[in-house]
Amino acid sequence: MKNLISLSAASLLALSALTGASGAAETAAAHHEIVRQPWSFAGFKGQFDRAQLQRGFQVYKEVCAACHGLKRVYFRNLAEPGGPVFPEEAVRELAASWPNQIPEMNDQGEIAGKGGELFKRPAKLSDPILGPYLNDRQARAAQNGALPPDLSVIAKARGVHREVHWAIHPFLMLGDILQGYQEGGPDYLYALLTGYTEPPADVTVGEGMSFNTAFPGHQLAMPPPLSDGSITYQDGTKPTVDNYARDVSAFLAWAADPSLDQRKRIGWVVMLYLLVTTVLLYFGKRRIWSKLH
Ligand code: HEC
Repeated sequence: MKNLISLSAASLLALSALTGASGAAETAAAHHEIVRQPWSFAGFKGQFDRAQLQRGFQVYKEVCAACHGLKRVYFRNLAEPGGPVFPEEAVRELAASWPNQIPEMNDQGEIAGKGGELFKRPAKLSDPILGPYLNDRQARAAQNGALPPDLSVIAKARGVHREVHWAIHPFLMLGDILQGYQEGGPDYLYALLTGYTEPPADVTVGEGMSFNTAFPGHQLAMPPPLSDGSITYQDGTKPTVDNYARDVSAFLAWAADPSLDQRKRIGWVVMLYLLVTTVLLYFGKRRIWSKLH
């Protein structure tokens, strides 16, 4: 059994060396590289860094919210444990002053105003964090036909795309499971936000498009959203694109998985409980069976 395990570990290593090598070759050709980042919430014990989530929300609010919604996150979530945990009163005020107000619904639950006029009201704690557009059509019309996706679950919807033979994928997945690697989403977001460069000489970038090393296909309709110094942090963190990208990616990882902290903590308690139960059952079994001798 032991041999079998070391054998499969060895073949896994060999495979990952192989795929790593082909990945490096591909990087050189297509400038495509998504590097693993050191996230506080990575691994079996990792937890979100509250100060980082607060900074990340600030980046979302001051930059991304101009184009992207966050409609599966509710204002009240920003004050709940496991997240940025802003004071509730501050979140209430934030909701009330959020520029993208809540459209009034009619009895059928449709967005509709009387006489074709749209009514909106300020948001409350119980309302979702909306982007500037009422629907995808309006968003596309404002963004040259491109759709800025809602960012609520983008950290789960994206990952690190590995261009390897399909038969290799199960082994890569197994490798991820063994290492507890689940941060492909935030790694991709960070790479995307820091991945704007000049295009290589042989690439022509389309009208209204930007070149990006991380985006599949390398051309996207989102202009570089971040620049050094554009956001002022309150806690002394350096105002660099690198930090903005890191913080907003962590914030979006939380938005997509708000109960991560609690789940990981409970996981350990459950493991401990099972361990204690195992020991008790073992001694119980010995005691019961000892009477049969
Ligand atoms: C000026 C408007 C604008 C701003 C500001 C903006 N985005 Fe975008 N974003 C877009 C558009 C448009 C797209 C769609 C691009 C495409 O499909 O070519 C997009 C796409 C994306 C995607 C999806 C990429 C993919 O893999 O499909 C992510 C993630 C994203 N934006 C994150 C952000 C974050 C984080 C910020 C804030 C730091 C931000 N955006 C700010 C307009 C914007």
